[in-house]
Amino acid sequence: MTSDTVVPRIAIVEDDAGQARQLGRILELEGFLTSHYASPLAALSAWAQAPPDLVLTDLNMPDMDGIALLEKMREAHPGLPVIMMTAFGSVDTAKQALKLGAHDYLLKPIDVDELLVTLRKVLQTRQLKQENLTLRKQLKTQYQFERAIGAAPAWRRVMETVDAVADSEATALILGESGTGKELVAEAIHARSARAAGPLIKVHCAALPENLLEAELFGHEKGAFTGAAALRKGRFEEADGGTLFLDEVGEIAPPVQVKLLRVLQQKTFERLGSGATLKADFRLIAATNRDLQAEVKAGHFREDLYYRLNVIPIPLPPLRERREDIALLAQHFLAKANALNRKHVEGIGEAALDLLARYPFPGNVRELENLIERCVVLSRGTHIEPDDLPPELHGTPGAAPQATAGPVERLWRGELNLDALERLILEDAMQRSRGVQTEAARLLGISRRTLQYRLEKHGLSKSAPE
Ligand SMILES: Nc1ncnc2c1ncn2[C@@H]1O[C@H](COP(=O)(O)OP(=O)(O)OP(=O)(O)O)[C@@H](O)[C@H]1O
Ligand SMILES: [Mg+2]
Repeated sequence: MTSDTVVPRIAIVEDDAGQARQLGRILELEGFLTSHYASPLAALSAWAQAPPDLVLTDLNMPDMDGIALLEKMREAHPGLPVIMMTAFGSVDTAKQALKLGAHDYLLKPIDVDELLVTLRKVLQTRQLKQENLTLRKQLKTQYQFERAIGAAPAWRRVMETVDAVADSEATALILGESGTGKELVAEAIHARSARAAGPLIKVHCAALPENLLEAELFGHEKGAFTGAAALRKGRFEEADGGTLFLDEVGEIAPPVQVKLLRVLQQKTFERLGSGATLKADFRLIAATNRDLQAEVKAGHFREDLYYRLNVIPIPLPPLRERREDIALLAQHFLAKANALNRKHVEGIGEAALDLLARYPFPGNVRELENLIERCVVLSRGTHIEPDDLPPELHGTPGAAPQATAGPVERLWRGELNLDALERLILEDAMQRSRGVQTEAARLLGISRRTLQYRLEKHGLSKSAPE
């Protein structure tokens, strides 16, 4: 909503009816819509239905003071601007209110000019913020649902399989290193399938510990376990009529593997804490960056489940095996980063493109995307030039060996043990990600918690930001 087209609604929370009436009259004359609440409790219950655009509240009121109101509002209506009105003696409390997120405060008795200037300023900031949010959201969805970019033969084969799978009801297993586009391919299958109008439910299996993952998938009755405060539908149920995407399926713990297998065999399941059998009709897509066959051999992943999932395997090529696409993808990400960051970098210089084309990209397409966005954000020129690129891109030899080939060879020669190799890789990942842990974790295909644990194990965690 913008204040050009819609009249801003101001809520006045004030226990003194006389003062509230006076304020209301001033604001209505200025063209605002106002409503008055004699207490914060009354206000909060009314806003549950229709929150205003701005709140003007007294600081000292009987049933709940302005500070407590602020705290409640932060939970229920984050982002709703608040201006505090306070008597001269309580400026300190007003400053505390600012810390708690109030946008401004006014001293009583209220000076009308000051009131209007402050109101307009706060409303304008809110409007800009909202426009920005909407814009970013629009751009994000616009770019998300765009076709997957790539012209290399290896990528074309992927997309042919995607189309074939989309036309069927078969289970697909997407395999590939971190950042190769597994989620994007899952989205493409769903979008091109007859189930496109149904939901696409994504479950990130590595993000949840065993018992929570089970509750997430199966749902639970109220009181099924400590913390199950209300009935919750599971993801199987939610995927009814659509597609269920089990991301990082290789991370599922053996007890949950058994239960998942049963659901896939019988297409029925029960919520935790309930005996009632439920049915859901979904197509399953799974993805993993692990070598599932090796996990089966090692006894970490059930063979029968593996065969259930591996009906149509879709292996994704790492970016270094489809270098032809680097320039194409880089241009695409340049346009996306420009739009998202309101920048106008026109292109990528030839020398920079050359460096990009040689680099092995251990983090694959995601690494390329992040790298281009970083360049766009930091760039001051019209083109991305070699100087804009991070150090790891300079001096990659033409043959572009795999990033970790050196240390791995040293391992086989007996110069390093596994522990030392892990340390080298961790250091390398932290360097490549410029110390940003979430990024390093992504490059390594592990969770941030796992990364932190390993950094600590090797005494590498001291100066790491984020
Ligand atoms: N062919 C492509 N065209 C355009 N964008 C792509 C392509 N492949 C990947 N991307 C983009 O790269 C990023 C990483 O892709 P995605 O999340 O699908 O990878 P992933 O294999 O699921 O990675 P991870 O294993 O780390 O979860 C996303 O922002 C995605 O939109
Ligand atoms: Mg993914």
